Amino acid sequence: MRILSGIQPSGKLHLGNYFGMMKPALELQEKGDAFLFIANYHALTTVTDAARLRTATWDVALDFLACGLDPDRTVFFRQSDVPEVTELSWLLSVVTPMGLLERCHSYKDKVARGIASNHGLFAYPVLMAADILAVQSNLVPVGRDQKQHVEVTRDLAIKFNNQYGPVFTIPEPSIRDEVAVVPGLDGEKMSKSYDNHIELFGDEKEARSRVMRIVTDSTPLESPKNPDACRVFALYKLFATPEELQAMADRYRAGGFGYGEAKKALWVKIQETLAPFRHRREELARQPDFVESILRQGAARARAEARRTLAAARRAMGLD
Ligand code: ADP
Ligand code: TRP
Repeated sequence: MRILSGIQPSGKLHLGNYFGMMKPALELQEKGDAFLFIANYHALTTVTDAARLRTATWDVALDFLACGLDPDRTVFFRQSDVPEVTELSWLLSVVTPMGLLERCHSYKDKVARGIASNHGLFAYPVLMAADILAVQSNLVPVGRDQKQHVEVTRDLAIKFNNQYGPVFTIPEPSIRDEVAVVPGLDGEKMSKSYDNHIELFGDEKEARSRVMRIVTDSTPLESPKNPDACRVFALYKLFATPEELQAMADRYRAGGFGYGEAKKALWVKIQETLAPFRHRREELARQPDFVESILRQGAARARAEARRTLAAARRAMGLD
């Protein structure tokens, strides 16, 4: 089974990215033939400063390797090192109905948030389809907000195969329900664009102060509380073992346990979990040549796959 996912280098990664996409993708590296890439072509739709894009791309590389990406198991690469996907995206664009793209929530949301609409933003899902189809991926681990894009990919692959013959594998999204949407400080989806996020490798003081700012209700300290209605508990759930979670739920229900205490317990868990990653990241940052060589080797492998698929698509369409 082939598995592929990507992430845009458009800002510092946060807990929502980690639990929604990185961790599930990293767990899947045990289950099949995994590909993971840094979607820097996609990031061009929102990042317009070259130096910022370069830095963010490097940061994502360090973040993934620090969080457990094993380059012996996972083909890890920069999207722009596999330029075949841009050609494939053109070939797919001629089987892409306008209406399909017009219906994409992500495009509509971005435009609603004031991002200037341009062709790249509109055609974003077609390039994403090319990423997925180029390596003939079966499974695409993503957060729920990306599900529609994988559905677009399926539609395009089916349409292409019907029209030109069987070139593409039809992929499935893989979404872990329990972490489909990680809530932010305000209870909305955690997202850097809502500034309600907690960074994975940011300043620790800032992260702690963000945990302390998580919005809770005004139930008095001594009263019993409903853990399932609490954002602190929802985040604690992501880190805790089932026993720790049960113990925390009991403390909520017993009363006499304040949200401040819960936040401190959450902060301890966050630190415990991220400390080894932080350490590994510092080590990797001191070995840029090593990191670069991983990305180059990954690109060579991904490129070989993409070339094969592209040749088949060109042949099917009469471009050979
Ligand atoms: P952001 O919303 O901060 O801009 P992205 O849209 O770049 O994050 O998301 C990158 C990946 O992380 C996607 O696969 C997305 O589904 C996942 N992801 C982002 N935020 C969350 C969240 N709050 N919960 C679950 N998954 C998320
Ligand atoms: N659109 C994805 C996001 O914003 C990133 C991405 C680009 C991707 N190409 C992909 C994810 C292919 C999975 C597969 O998070």
